[in-house]
Amino acid sequence: MAIDVQDFVARVRSVVGESATPIGLHEPEFGEIEKQFLAECIDSTFVSSLGQFIPQFEQRIQEITGAKYAIAASNGTSALHIALYVVGVEPGDEVIVPSLSFVATANAVSHAGAIPHFIDSELGTLGMSPEALRETLSKMRREGGKVYNPVTGARIAAISPMHTLGHPVRIQEIVAIADEYGIPVVEDAAESLGSFVDGKHSGTFGLTGMISFNGNKIVTTGGGGVIITNDDAIGKRAKHITTTAKLPHKWEFEHDEVAWNYRMTNLTAALGMAQLSRLDGFMAEKRVIANRYAAAFADFEGAKFVFEPEGTTSNYWLCAVQLDEPSLEKRDEILQACHDVGLLARPMWNLLHTQRMYASAPAEDLLVATDLHASLICLPSSPRLARR
Ligand SMILES: Cc1ncc(COP(=O)(O)O)c(C=O)c1O
Repeated sequence: MAIDVQDFVARVRSVVGESATPIGLHEPEFGEIEKQFLAECIDSTFVSSLGQFIPQFEQRIQEITGAKYAIAASNGTSALHIALYVVGVEPGDEVIVPSLSFVATANAVSHAGAIPHFIDSELGTLGMSPEALRETLSKMRREGGKVYNPVTGARIAAISPMHTLGHPVRIQEIVAIADEYGIPVVEDAAESLGSFVDGKHSGTFGLTGMISFNGNKIVTTGGGGVIITNDDAIGKRAKHITTTAKLPHKWEFEHDEVAWNYRMTNLTAALGMAQLSRLDGFMAEKRVIANRYAAAFADFEGAKFVFEPEGTTSNYWLCAVQLDEPSLEKRDEILQACHDVGLLARPMWNLLHTQRMYASAPAEDLLVATDLHASLICLPSSPRLARR
């Protein structure tokens, strides 16, 4: 199918409007409340890992997600590392992850000393395919309550699905399959703050989950993350090992294991508290933009808008359009045409199994992920675009 590239660009332009400067994918937004909280934090002199904003931030994340525990961390990657570690991922283990994800999904597995095992995604959610998961696990060897990859001999220690662009995966099915095998699910909900399935927040279906507050996320702390869980022992342990495993004492420096200094700073949490107060507004604006793109591309020949999966509420962190026929050439032609006029559209990440450090990691058939990689184009989705 021939795609009219200039028409594609015109339709994006009709949504985002004219601009003298390039329009990014997601531009963070700050106002008086951010300045006020940051000034308060600086005035308090508690800018590091102690201070009132950190517990407030954690409390607010608990309220938004419904998770019993929220442990603020220095970024999403460190949060995911700990989320994997506390469910028992050990050096030499394998963790099942989608190949279609940001590199941090696999890097966190590596930081835990384990190896990512890549499986396919699905068209409906852009995330891990429950069918691919079932198929992969059916080939594994079960022994003594554990599951092993018969090819590598490694234990399958966790399954880590990711909610792509904020769109929830079929997480209930994934958790049900994982439960059959006794494997914990660690949700990479880096992109999906504010996304729900049946009224339950993404990241709270697995034994652990995490959210990122990188500058490009729906709300940002500059750099930050949070581990979420409903499990008492895991929640307490995650807090302990992200804060150097220090035993509470007024002056003694006693630590009971080798741990990490992954704590979010108070300065960062102050920014986060201000941003969280605007989450509902940002979510509503993302939905306005999504509706505008959906209308703009409704009758476009050769590509369609990517809607939130049925039965879910997506935060529409990034809006995307999918080519009917996957083609890296056509995708890049469109991206080039967008960039030529200052519309900074982006492709999906290069598939993880093709990244040089993961080229020899175990991988299943990745046909759908390969097609998605060659057909998805992410479009400018900053909240401010809804206000024009
Ligand atoms: C899917 C996914 N996982 C993990 C991360 C890691 O988060 P951070 O950048 O905060 O380390 C990100 C985002 O950056 C992400 O998009």
